[in-house]
Amino acid sequence: MTHIATRLSVVKPSASMAVSQAAKDLAATGVDVIDLGLGEPDFAAPAHVTEIAFAEARANRMLYTASLGTPDLRRAVCEKFRRENGLEYSVDEIAVANGAKQIIFNALMATVDEGDELILPAPYFVSYPEMAKLFGGVPVTPACPAESGFRLTPEVLEAAITPRTRWLFLNMPGNPSGAVYSRAQLEALGAVLDRHPQVMILSDEIYEHITFDGRAFVSVGAACPQLRDRTLIVNGVSKAYAMTGWRVGYAAGPRDLIKAMATVQSQSCTSVSAPAQRAAQAALEGPQDEVQSFREAFERRRNMVVEGIRQINALTLDPPEGAFYAYIGCAALIGAHTPSGTVLEDDVAVAKYLLDVAHVAAVPGTAYGLSPYFRISTATSEAELSEAVSRIARAVAQLDR
Ligand SMILES: Cc1ncc(COP(=O)(O)O)c(C=O)c1O
Repeated sequence: MTHIATRLSVVKPSASMAVSQAAKDLAATGVDVIDLGLGEPDFAAPAHVTEIAFAEARANRMLYTASLGTPDLRRAVCEKFRRENGLEYSVDEIAVANGAKQIIFNALMATVDEGDELILPAPYFVSYPEMAKLFGGVPVTPACPAESGFRLTPEVLEAAITPRTRWLFLNMPGNPSGAVYSRAQLEALGAVLDRHPQVMILSDEIYEHITFDGRAFVSVGAACPQLRDRTLIVNGVSKAYAMTGWRVGYAAGPRDLIKAMATVQSQSCTSVSAPAQRAAQAALEGPQDEVQSFREAFERRRNMVVEGIRQINALTLDPPEGAFYAYIGCAALIGAHTPSGTVLEDDVAVAKYLLDVAHVAAVPGTAYGLSPYFRISTATSEAELSEAVSRIARAVAQLDR
């Protein structure tokens, strides 16, 4: 007999967390493992941000706050959207939650009914389909292959929409692909959505500040203003300010949706912790130079990884346009024999081989809905990345293809 609710039977735990755990288990046996599983900046949060959280705690400003966030933080979020995206939102159109993930969770709990379809262009962030299923939603995952830059095209979008479509998710720069959409590409998707008023748009812009080669970031909100009353723009401080563990995410969207999300939040976690909110406010309002230096570091690492992986004949990698991952194509490895005689049947086997033989933890493409690939995070030091690429090259050279 099980005590676990049936709704959980269809939900998988996070694949990147699982890879990281496997890496930790192997490291605990004394093996020198390079863990490129989780996407977490290795920088410290800006010093002034940490200081202000200490000051809040010392002043004992540690009480519950308004469910959707302190008015000061929500005003800082409005100002961020105005300054960086040219978007006008008022405080009652802003929600704050424990990370972008909880924002998405709240939004789906507030809107998804049994059988509703969610279009999640693949490759997608691992948590999207699992959250959708938790609420009885049906993930629809059209493939967006490397040939289309891992981007959703208007034709593919049109074909995926049905009368049951509740949400379209966009994520730019994308995890795992790094894909960024231009204004024209977003406008073209917006023109399709104009014809389907039942579809809401969730734009996950958490990697907004990490774009490369001088590429401009255009928010869905700016490219498709006509969709404003059905667009939820999701963002947060985790990636831009190296504040993953502070757990502060935020969103701008239509008032009725924000209000429904407030109900969910007030009956679950109540609010984000008060000093974390104060810290996030300081991050948004303070100097932005560290955001820029993080971005530059990620671009250097991206260049290094692209150069290294391209030396390995059997692997493919177009330069990611943003975020801090490399989504590496490994079609030429499928069917290869390992030195111990096993056959690499799929990208799960490739990732396992890399962990076992190269001692590099990578997440198989299966987790992101587009195979055969594996994802490595580039949010680690250049020395570690360079060693990881050399190890991958040696492990691939040992295969019989
Ligand atoms: C696309 C995407 N959205 C959201 C998140 C989670 O962000 P947060 O730390 O704000 O919950 C991640 C983290 O890896 C991500 O890659």
